[in-house]
Amino acid sequence: MDRFVKSFILMGIVYLAIATVLGICMLGYPSLMQFKFVHSHLMMLGWVSMMIYGVGYHILPRFAGKLLKSPKLGELQFWLANIGLVGMLAFYTLGTYNPSGLYRGLVIASGLIEALSISLFFYNMIATLYAKTEA
Ligand code: HEM
Ligand code: HEM
Repeated sequence: MDRFVKSFILMGIVYLAIATVLGICMLGYPSLMQFKFVHSHLMMLGWVSMMIYGVGYHILPRFAGKLLKSPKLGELQFWLANIGLVGMLAFYTLGTYNPSGLYRGLVIASGLIEALSISLFFYNMIATLYAKTEA
């Protein structure tokens, strides 16, 4: 198993743990409901997507009888997905306490990094599954 595959799975579980604690705190302290975006994206981009990236990178090429097109791009995607997610949620949180154009810009920039990481997964998977040569 590639190192970045294990890292995706590990980080998925870490985000699940953090988002679960936040979800329970949201139940106990209704003022924390303003962080629903943080909880839902820790769950969906952190837990769900990272688990799918990790399992997908490992299993889908094998199912198709192909080699992953670029493990290097997979590694890069791992870093961009995590930097984008943590940045997006951290700047969103800071922006709720201290609304400013700066934080809004940083949230958008982090969201774009996250979107770039999604496009790398898209490219790597399509280039792998539709490659002409078999592994
Ligand atoms: C112990 C586990 C969990 C707790 C305590 C929890 C708690 C919450 C709470 C309090 C809300 C806000 C609901 C509201 O707006 O009234 C919420 C929303 C949400 N949660 Fe969780 N949650 C948990 C697990 C999960 C899991 C496992 C996922 C996904 C894999 C998830 C995804 C979401 C999403 C997407 C929303 C936004 C839904 C919407 O806007 O309607 N949650 N959760
Ligand atoms: C670059 C990636 C993404 C960005 C920038 C983004 C941004 C947003 C924004 C701005 C909202 C509205 C929040 C609000 O009403 O306060 C939202 C809601 C939501 N998004 Fe995303 N999203 C991204 C990826 C995803 C992905 C991959 C999933 C699912 C796998 C997802 C699931 C949801 C859900 C369930 C909601 C409604 C719950 C909520 O309001 O928090 N998002 N997203």
